[in-house]
Amino acid sequence: MSRILTFRIFRFDPQMPAEKPMTQEYQLQEAPGMTVFIALNQLREQQDPSLQFDFVCRAGICGSCAMVINGMPTLACRTLTSNYKDGVITLMPLPGFELIGDLSVNTGKFMRQLSERLQAWLVPSDANEDMHRLERPMDPALADAIYESERCIECGCCVSACATAQMRDTFVGAVGFNKVARFALDDRDARSADDYYHIIGDEDGVFGCMTLLGCQDTCPKDLDHQGQIAYLRRQLSRSQRIL
Ligand code: SF4
Ligand code: SF4
Ligand code: FES
Repeated sequence: MSRILTFRIFRFDPQMPAEKPMTQEYQLQEAPGMTVFIALNQLREQQDPSLQFDFVCRAGICGSCAMVINGMPTLACRTLTSNYKDGVITLMPLPGFELIGDLSVNTGKFMRQLSERLQAWLVPSDANEDMHRLERPMDPALADAIYESERCIECGCCVSACATAQMRDTFVGAVGFNKVARFALDDRDARSADDYYHIIGDEDGVFGCMTLLGCQDTCPKDLDHQGQIAYLRRQLSRSQRIL
């Protein structure tokens, strides 16, 4: 006989400001291989159709199901309920994002604004570059490094785990550093370290980062945030002859 899980879930609808945020408790029978995502679907189908949370892929690819599970920002679809030995699972929405309702937050708006602020797009070094050309030779090691940065699924876990981002909402944070590093690495991009210095060379950028690496501890794609932050600091410091 499988055990009964207890879920304590944050409930609040910002469209109903007269109501107060609350924690609602649910019980559910655990099944073999159950993830928090599967449990949430069962709760919504069988007990409470008003429960709000997001998902698309169910496979750790889209980043939509990120939430705070027993205090850690992570993906609900990649988290087994069996990880929690006492069977009590507390779910909160990711802090640092606009709340849509219950466990659903608007990470898309945040990521779009961040990309625009950081100009996270290719600025071709050759003005005559044919942007429609399908292939261009590239050093395989460089292609691998760029691909590594592009594994980010914009889930927002690193933002929620970052104390600096929680204290200062203008802080670029690890997901932003990853976006900048991707183009700083790319030899097709015309921008120099000086240009990036003007985007992330202050206390809202890499020099405001406390390097406690909550971002690295929570990134579900295991991106090398420590290495990226060090790389960007070195590049920007040299560009300004700080080092
Ligand atoms: S290392 Fe920097 S970006 Fe990562 S969590 Fe800490 S302050 Fe935030
Ligand atoms: S860097 Fe990692 S934690 Fe941050 S948004 Fe990308 S995948 Fe999520
Ligand atoms: S549903 Fe896509 S990452 Fe979890």
